[in-house]
Amino acid sequence: MINFNLNGKEVSVDAPDDTPLLWVLRDDLRLTGTKFGCGIAQCGACTVELNGMTRRSCVTPLSMVEGSYVTTIEGVDGPEAKAVQAAWEAIDVPQCGWCQSGQVMSATALLREIPNPTDEDIDNAMAGNICRCATYVRIREAIKNAAKELEG
Ligand code: FES
Ligand code: FES
Repeated sequence: MINFNLNGKEVSVDAPDDTPLLWVLRDDLRLTGTKFGCGIAQCGACTVELNGMTRRSCVTPLSMVEGSYVTTIEGVDGPEAKAVQAAWEAIDVPQCGWCQSGQVMSATALLREIPNPTDEDIDNAMAGNICRCATYVRIREAIKNAAKELEG
């Protein structure tokens, strides 16, 4: 049995130690906002926070999360997360939507670290989040809008 804190609640999961966290979240805990894209840490669709750092859940074995704090798109909160989600909605960033929870998790982490990111900061921080619908221009605009909103 592996125990960890998920979006503020303690959970226990009975699954093999090497089960990817992504499948535990989706299949065992029924949180399907986190998506499967590539399964090899190349696309970012499965991005979650593990102890406050972004992490690809498709390559994170369950054993690694024992005693940790995991946050998914369903639980991510705080001023940066709220500003990012509002900015995403305001300009309709998503197209098919598949990559977007990962994009929001990475954008939130970026604004926590760099409140006023340049284009280069955004490109660097978001480079691991692939969007097949090529919503990159809107993603960049939404991040800048969120940063302005946070500046007040
Ligand atoms: S599904 Fe995890 S990085 Fe693509
Ligand atoms: S919105 Fe379709 S993959 Fe990004």
